[in-house]
Order: sequence, then structure tokens, then C-alpha cells
Amino acid sequence: MSNGPVDLIKEGTTELFVYKNKASVKGPSLKDGMPFYNPAMELNRDISILVNQWILNTSAKHVHILDGLAASGIRGVRLAHELSGDFEVSINDWNEESFALIQQNIQKNQLKNVSVFQRDLNNLLLERRYHSIDIDPFGSPVYFFDAAVKSVYNKGVIACSATDTAALCGVFPQVCFRRYAAWPLHGPAMHETGLRILLGCLCREAARYDRGIEPVLCYTTDHYVRLYIQVHNGKAAANTSMAQYAIIHAKEVPLSQENASMVGPLWLGKIQKKTAIQEIRTLASSKQLNTKPLLWKFLDLLEEEADAPPFFYTINDLSSLLKVSPPTMEHIFEHLKQKGYIVTRTHCSPTGFKTNAPFDIVTEVFKSQRIS
Ligand SMILES: C[S@@+](CC[C@H](N)C(=O)[O-])C[C@H]1O[C@@H](n2cnc3c(N)ncnc32)[C@H](O)[C@@H]1O
Repeated sequence: MSNGPVDLIKEGTTELFVYKNKASVKGPSLKDGMPFYNPAMELNRDISILVNQWILNTSAKHVHILDGLAASGIRGVRLAHELSGDFEVSINDWNEESFALIQQNIQKNQLKNVSVFQRDLNNLLLERRYHSIDIDPFGSPVYFFDAAVKSVYNKGVIACSATDTAALCGVFPQVCFRRYAAWPLHGPAMHETGLRILLGCLCREAARYDRGIEPVLCYTTDHYVRLYIQVHNGKAAANTSMAQYAIIHAKEVPLSQENASMVGPLWLGKIQKKTAIQEIRTLASSKQLNTKPLLWKFLDLLEEEADAPPFFYTINDLSSLLKVSPPTMEHIFEHLKQKGYIVTRTHCSPTGFKTNAPFDIVTEVFKSQRIS
């Protein structure tokens, strides 16, 4: 292996060599050209373990998993070591140092069910097909969408991360339009809007090949968006997905800025598959994962909001708009439920709530705290 300090770390039950100088929590950097490793993404990788175990458990066939942009190989090596079932893993990174480090990590874990590639991911995807494809780039995954939607088998899963949140969340709207052919929104709902723009883009790419998408588990943080979507073959599946793909007016998004106009096109359908999340959460008890307490809470939240409508209010923003002191979450939930509306928390904001209640009802409930 090449020069540079190497650290032995453990995630899940897997021990891996990574470059110490890349152990940053701030995010990707290409400065020294050594394989990237971000310890802050452990929860993200733990979710990968669970989703891929769910794929294996729900598939009757041999499953081929691809970690397409692997860096140290941590995701693919962990998958190969920590999953159980009939599967193999391919791990790819075009960087020479990564290729060497991945091989060392495979050896360290004495893995037999793994192949390593040093290829451009797009070329690899065009050559063969996979049941589960992971795309975890620096920045946008959009450059791999076309090849990924062609490569993935029917009912297979594409997972991708996007760290270009400045584009997706409307700091740079022109970049978003160029990259995703969609207008973003900058405001309280910008992270969910960004997630839905990315989903919309995948939906559009898949539909060109008569394929539909079904979100399984999707989430956003301040620093990245992460999607797991299942691809279904057929014109009917493509039409059903495309029916969820639309342009909306900014005023349809709660608390958006008045001067914004059109938003999207973006995905307006569900962003979680509730039954899958319930099964995925159950799987967590059989795995050794360092982030388990956090993971349980997070999956609870995703399950809770699975049937909620798109977008959300935040207590703080509503409070500024209505010029009243903020009521408690309990007050809002109790009163909206009493009136027969859906109301859920959202993973997008700790003070956010999703509801199908019209704005005048939300306002009434929000203000009623002063006399209740
Ligand atoms: C953010 S890192 C991957 C992190 C890794 N998945 C993890 O969980 O730690 C992105 C990697 O993609 C690789 N890469 C970028 N473009 C590529 C391409 N077109 N084909 C193959 N590898 C590529 C880079 O060399 C880099 O190692």
C-alpha cells in the first residue's frame, strides 16, 4: 500500500484500514488524493447494511451488490462481511490508492464473496447488471443516473447520496436547474424540496426506459440527501411514477418565501415505504451496529412521516409569521388530531410537523394555545 498514516477502525463488526488524515467530520476533500473516509457517515453506512439485508431477505435469487464509488471500500467491505444470505459484492473506485486499500481491507476481513474493480463507474454499469447499486460521490450523483437506471435489475435498488445541497436547496438555483432541470426553493422546506428534486430527476431518468421508481427509504440532513429507490419494469410502472412528477407553485409549500415562483419539477409522492421501514427496523436487532440507539429513533421518525403529505411547518417559522409565542408540539398534535387531521413529526426538522390540515386550521390551532 502507498505512503501516509493508516488507522485501523471498526464499524459494525468489520475492521478496516483508513487514512487518518481523511478522518474528517466536515465532509469530502480531494486535496491529498488519498482514499476518503468520513467517520461521521457511520449511521449512513449502518442504514446501508440494513437496507441491503432487507433486499437479500426479500429476494428469492442470488443478489449482486455494487459499491460503485468505494474510496476505502468501507461500505462494500462491510456489506460483504456483515450481511447474511446468497450474495456477492463488487467494489469499485477508479483511484489507484483506493484500489490498493480496498484489496487490503478485503484481505484483512478474509472475504471470499467480493470482486474489486478500478473502473469508471459509468462504464462498469453499462457492462453488467446489479440488484443493488450504491452511488456515493463527492457532490452530485446525477452523472451516474442514466447508467444506473439501465443497469439495475427489475425490483433492484439504487442508493445514492448527494452532497451538493447548495444547488438542491436553492443557494445556487442556476446550478440546480442546469444539473437537475428543476428550480429549487430556498427556505424552511429547502432540504425536503432538494430531496424531492433528486427523486424527480431519478424518476424522469427511469421513465425514459419504461421503468418506474418506488422510494423505499429517503432522508436529508444539513449536509447531504440520501435515497434508496426500487426500480420496477414496465410502462404502467413508469406512468404511475411520472404521475408523481410535477411543477408546483412556491405558495403550495408551507411558509415559503413570497417572491419565489415555480418549484420543480419534483417528486410529490411518498418518500418512504412504510412496510419496508418496519422490516428494516426489525432487522437492526440482529445486527451489531454502533449507531443503533440513534438509528432506532431515526427509523421511528421515518416510519411516522411515511404516510404524511409532502412538506411541513416549523413552530419557529409559524410563530414569527403569526407573531404569537410558539405553542408546544403536544398542543399542536392534540388539537389537529382532535379535528381529524393527520399530523406527524418530520426528520427534516426537530421543530417541524407535517399535516393535511389547511393553513387556516393550522393558524387557529397555533393561536388557540393562548386561551386553552
Ligand atoms: C465520497 S467518496 C466515496 C466514499 C465511500 N463510499 C464511503 O462510504 O466512505 C467518492 C469516491 O468516488 C470515486 N470516483 C469519483 N468518480 C468516479 C468514477 N467516475 N468512477 C469511479 N470512481 C469514481 C473517488 O475516487 C472517491 O474515492
